[in-house]
Amino acid sequence: MSDRSRDGATAEALAHPNIALAKYWGKRTYGHNLPAVPSLSVTLEGMATRTRVTLDAGLGEDAFLLAGAAAPDAAKARVVGLLDRVRSAVGSTLRATVESANDFPTSSGLASSASAFAALATAACAAYGWSASDAERSDLARKTSVSAARSVFGGFVELRAGVEGDTFLAAEQLAPEGTWPVAIVVAATTRAAKETASTEGMLHTVRTSPYHEAWVACAPQVFAQAKAALAAHDLEAMGDAVEASAFAMHADAIAARPAVVYWNAGTMAALAEVRALRRSGVGVWATMDAGPHVKVLTLAADADRVRDAMRAVAGVVDAFVAKPGAGARTSRAEPGAP
Ligand code: DP6
Repeated sequence: MSDRSRDGATAEALAHPNIALAKYWGKRTYGHNLPAVPSLSVTLEGMATRTRVTLDAGLGEDAFLLAGAAAPDAAKARVVGLLDRVRSAVGSTLRATVESANDFPTSSGLASSASAFAALATAACAAYGWSASDAERSDLARKTSVSAARSVFGGFVELRAGVEGDTFLAAEQLAPEGTWPVAIVVAATTRAAKETASTEGMLHTVRTSPYHEAWVACAPQVFAQAKAALAAHDLEAMGDAVEASAFAMHADAIAARPAVVYWNAGTMAALAEVRALRRSGVGVWATMDAGPHVKVLTLAADADRVRDAMRAVAGVVDAFVAKPGAGARTSRAEPGAP
């Protein structure tokens, strides 16, 4: 590709987090950041990462500002890795300033790396003059953070497992937002940052959990159930798959040596409330990611009362409703943003 990058070029993009209904947990051991299992997610509106990339010939190295402050080295290394891939695709040597901000608190427990790297991939391609397809941006985001591949797309999204020999792997949209009126009620059970990041937690699980092979063997069946339930708009079958996936993933992590336990007392209380609501006839199913928060799948029509019930649980510090949303896209730079 001929180098179309130019000094001073700037682009801004916006992406939403997603929640996996059928989880990814564990990478293939043959590199390329490939997921060991297929996953299915819903991208959520209401919360967003906004990221601006500005090319600057005067920079000797990339700069990364997170919410206005220089980001920690590990976060910066991931950003530079993504920019390096874009530079090598377009043949550019220009460094960039990346400014990124979330409009939701990280304590909301919504995967900020998913929205972060989907937004960065989208803004970086635009700033460097690479008119990448959605699949190319998804693959680019996936190479840095697997769940970010899914946030490139809106609505319901799948990402197949990686197989040996894969270098390119992109997510695909299964159904756009608005096709199925469901909602996720996020019940946050702490305001503290999580103790074990997802990458670290899953690498340790893969290395030490005696249950990991069983997880990798059963995840595709649960994914297939979720995919069929989505096609049929069968909330009960989806909810059953959602809980099976979440509990099996956490069982895998809990069996690691030493154990990776993401739950707290509020998690258990919130799970008990989900079971009580279900016994009382409300269609609700729970999922948890690499943190203690509980996310509840329900019909959009029931979401407000589920949110109110979750707010009343001891140990739940906040609860809010998130509906299916759109994929990552470039946005017009606003003064002062991100
Ligand atoms: C529990 O995508 O954050 O949220 O690929 O190492 O960046 P890396 O991990 P990440 O893991 C997400 C794990 C999860 C389940 C999911 O989103 O599928």
